[in-house]
Amino acid sequence: MSALIEFKGFNKFFGEQQVLKEIDLQVTSGEVIVILGPSGCGKSTLLRCLNGLEVAHSGGLKFNGRELLDKGTDWRDVRQQIGMVFQSYHLFPHMNVLDNLLLGPLKVQKRDRRDARTQAEALLERVGLLDKRDAYPRQLSGGQQQRIAIVRSLCMNPKVMLFDEVTAALDPEMVKEVLEVIQGLAREGMTLLIVTHEMAFARAVADRIVFMDAGRILEQNPPELFFTNPQTARAQQFLEKFSYVEALPRKTQTKELELL
Ligand SMILES: Nc1ncnc2c1ncn2[C@@H]1O[C@H](COP(=O)(O)OP(=O)(O)O)[C@@H](O)[C@H]1O
Ligand SMILES: [Mg+2]
Repeated sequence: MSALIEFKGFNKFFGEQQVLKEIDLQVTSGEVIVILGPSGCGKSTLLRCLNGLEVAHSGGLKFNGRELLDKGTDWRDVRQQIGMVFQSYHLFPHMNVLDNLLLGPLKVQKRDRRDARTQAEALLERVGLLDKRDAYPRQLSGGQQQRIAIVRSLCMNPKVMLFDEVTAALDPEMVKEVLEVIQGLAREGMTLLIVTHEMAFARAVADRIVFMDAGRILEQNPPELFFTNPQTARAQQFLEKFSYVEALPRKTQTKELELL
């Protein structure tokens, strides 16, 4: 099956600093990719390039068979197909939940109000928030607002969803309700690229873990392999920072260590 998303020799600079280096990454439709790596390694930039929020400098980036780095790419159109949810939810404070949800479908996609509303309500029901449709964002908890932000993105019927540390700003008791929504999408076969520091979640949800360090992809492996037997010293060090490290076999990757 051909890839839905394909980064090929992809490079991104901020001024002199190269923050993405020769990225090669293929994502097949229905795959769930979790991107892990230390802060500053380029995870957010990778997602932002895919969504046209950053301009790439060289290499290739295909989505659904189209080269996105060509001039004339309609990013507005691409963004409808590639939904993105961030740490901060940015709901409009002066609009109730339903109006927040209908803004994109009605204003951008010019869809029929009744259809869009039916879909929005069905999605609200699915995330357990149908009774909040008339509420204003300030009346909702952080976890509820983040679930609404996810629904807002889903209302555009994207082919792919990007999640960038969506639970990082939430109180611990709200993390689960948001991760469950994402897990539900994964189960339904939606293509997902997820940046998270929730390791148990990453392990449970991912088809593949992409491990990055200093702008490069160092490993791309199924979670079972990545978490039990990371192939690089960098990944091993990264995993040791998390508490379940006790469960990991301490295999010294001598070849890698020699390189450091
Ligand atoms: N708008 C920007 N201007 C300059 N440098 C940036 C900008 N955004 C990110 N960077 C730098 O790019 C690198 C990667 O950042 P980022 O993608 O946010 O990493 P991560 O999400 O993995 O923490 C970091 O060194 C960061 O300081
Ligand atoms: Mg980031």
